[in-house]
Amino acid sequence: SVINVILSGGVGSRLWPLSRKSRPKQYLPIFEGETLFQNTVKRNAEFSEKVIVVGNCDNFDLSRKDLASAGISNYIEIIEACPRNTAAAIAFAGFSAKPTDILFVTPSDHLIESASDYQLAVDRAVQLAKEGYIVTFGLKPKRPETGYGYIEAAGEEVKSFREKPNLETAETFMESGNFYWNSGMFCFQAGVYLEELKAFEPEVYAASKTAFDTSSAGKMDFDLSMKIPSISVDYAVMEKTKKIKVVPSEFAWSDMGSFESIYDHFKNQGFAVDGKGNMVIGTNLHTEFLGLKNTLLIQTADAILILKKDNAQDVKKVFERLEREK
Ligand code: GDD
Ligand code: MG
Repeated sequence: SVINVILSGGVGSRLWPLSRKSRPKQYLPIFEGETLFQNTVKRNAEFSEKVIVVGNCDNFDLSRKDLASAGISNYIEIIEACPRNTAAAIAFAGFSAKPTDILFVTPSDHLIESASDYQLAVDRAVQLAKEGYIVTFGLKPKRPETGYGYIEAAGEEVKSFREKPNLETAETFMESGNFYWNSGMFCFQAGVYLEELKAFEPEVYAASKTAFDTSSAGKMDFDLSMKIPSISVDYAVMEKTKKIKVVPSEFAWSDMGSFESIYDHFKNQGFAVDGKGNMVIGTNLHTEFLGLKNTLLIQTADAILILKKDNAQDVKKVFERLEREK
């Protein structure tokens, strides 16, 4: 059967102060009153017979709340004691499934239009996964983004997978025309994933297995979890596996990972406050920007962030500094 594995253990540090440890971005009701997590659950319900949610103990209650409001009661909870990145998070889902179960792995912080293009892509991915492949979804790159993975492909064949290249490399990928953006969603049989992980990252496999096998009520031990090397699925498996395929896809997709995407999304909806592309999030107070363009002001109950859109990737550094100073 097809299982939607929802990864929701990230902290969303690039969206501080909207995103907090206690309420990461995927649980913010800022998309027409819904959260990105709810969007994800609803979008994928028709493709999957089961749901596995892999999330963090600090905010798992928010997943439960969103699942309940989406009318989903039949799901498996995997509760991490601390984030150990996506290679391990997906392994946990794999351990709790049958080897031939198809895992359709989706992040919980993307905005996707689930029209026919999406359905076609998922159907094709499931079919390839049944044949034993590790399937990625390729989207036409729009800019030399350095925060994404790139898939070099000819049709569904993948020549290489390159996670988070530097700007120069990303620019050559754009020019070559043979590269897609990796959507961050994956589809494969649980057993195929675990075999590849075991072959390429035996330590991640073994430590994840120990943490999972000794968990109780779906919750893992902190010290055993800390022994798992923190590496993303992209570096651990996608860059190395020979079983990789890509489904070239056309659906509308955006990763709400940074204020740059948030800005673009809301600007398209007419949310800029003036003709210079300045934007306010989180307050209805009248705000004026003088001598500034493409600037965002974000206000929450206890913090204000003002940034140029170009500095969107630096917000993570602010979050990390504040964490250190705590
Ligand atoms: N359960 C769990 N545990 N989930 C996690 C953890 C963890 O330790 N770390 C991250 N996640 C979740 C995040 O919440 C998010 O939904 C998803 O896994 C992906 O993690 P990100 O940290 O957002 O990855 P990324 O954006 O840097 O890169 C990935 O996505 C890009 C597209 O958005 C890669 O797959 C790239 O190749 C891809 O282009
Ligand atoms: Mg992301």
